[in-house]
Amino acid sequence: MGSVRIIKVELSRSESYSYEIWCELGLRKKVRERLKEIAPGRRLFWIFDREVVKRWGEDFDLGPQELIVWEAREDRKNLASIEKLARELISLGADRLSLLVSVGGGVTGDVVGFLASIYMRGIPFVQVPTTLVAQVDSSIGGKTGVDLPDGKNLIGTFHQPMWVAIDPEFITSLPQNIMAQGMAEVIKTAWIGDEGLVEMLESQHDSIKAMELKVISYVVGRCAEIKASIVMQDERESDIRRILNLGHTFGHAIERASNYSISHGEAVAMGCICAAKLSFLLGKISEENLFRMVSLFTKYNLPVEIPPTLDTDDIIRSFYADKKKRDKMLVFVLPLTPGKVELYITDDLSIVKEAVSKKL
Ligand SMILES: NC(=O)c1ccc[n+]([C@@H]2O[C@H](COP(=O)([O-])OP(=O)(O)OC[C@H]3O[C@@H](n4cnc5c(N)ncnc54)[C@H](O)[C@@H]3O)[C@@H](O)[C@H]2O)c1
Repeated sequence: MGSVRIIKVELSRSESYSYEIWCELGLRKKVRERLKEIAPGRRLFWIFDREVVKRWGEDFDLGPQELIVWEAREDRKNLASIEKLARELISLGADRLSLLVSVGGGVTGDVVGFLASIYMRGIPFVQVPTTLVAQVDSSIGGKTGVDLPDGKNLIGTFHQPMWVAIDPEFITSLPQNIMAQGMAEVIKTAWIGDEGLVEMLESQHDSIKAMELKVISYVVGRCAEIKASIVMQDERESDIRRILNLGHTFGHAIERASNYSISHGEAVAMGCICAAKLSFLLGKISEENLFRMVSLFTKYNLPVEIPPTLDTDDIIRSFYADKKKRDKMLVFVLPLTPGKVELYITDDLSIVKEAVSKKL
């Protein structure tokens, strides 16, 4: 086991909104003990992703009266699952004094967080994230929600977890494609917030690919810290939190234009490069840094070129197919030097189109 890194998330709305993120190898084995300390007297209900319970369940030693297992899949991240899980909680006797513990990836965390925010008008919950995406991104910040047939994350709440317990060892059992998705978010986060981390991802890529736990643990903890520091400045995503969307305006459009045949992580990688090309066209990023970003994604086997089968006009049209988007202005995050980004808001599609179609 390593030493614990404790990140404090202090939110201004009230003291009860503040919480800690712990990151430590082997932490999963201490979660129950710690919960007795931070939530004395609360009855715990653990909602586990089925894949996770299969591989890691015995480390938690749970009885049938406190455990719910569900199959976490994006197409089950919906209101029907919320109702099903809520009814299971009722049948197990969960009440207003209960605490939900989410153990799984981003789908499980979003669903359990949403359920906790509305179950009996709201009960506390804890995040135990088990994918790289969940550890560096989705478990932090309190965004919860489910999808509608009309689009992703259209129903949801802000509900901060009581504690986030990150054990980087979980990711050793991730399939390679899921790990790669997470690396796209890691590279994105590093470029937003820490030049040193960008350098580390460049120089230590062999160790990271070989899953050397000490290095992985540092990377995960540092990304969690960067995300937490941004969330602290803007809990409700009205301003600075939008910088976390680096690569996502382009990425979502690429995902949609491909009819979701391109995964989110791959689309984010391509989206970051489109954002860098846009930044280059606007004179904000040097050619050297543009190609530094290209080579970083390439090192982790993430795609940087949009496949020729995707039409630029379809991608541009997809910006406006987002059901959450109502105005004509598009918001992009421009990468500058590593560790620095800025927002760019425009309705000038010609330069955006040029960035999408520009060859490297
Ligand atoms: N709330 C937020 O701020 C936020 C941010 C980013 C993404 N998200 C959401 O997160 C979701 C994506 O998260 P994800 O990529 O973690 O997906 P996921 O939860 O579907 O997990 C991906 C796959 O990995 C499996 N898995 C999980 N942990 C494992 C482990 N340790 N070993 C082996 N297999 C494991 C799962 O069963 C699943 O098949 C999306 O729904 C997205 O909208 C939310």
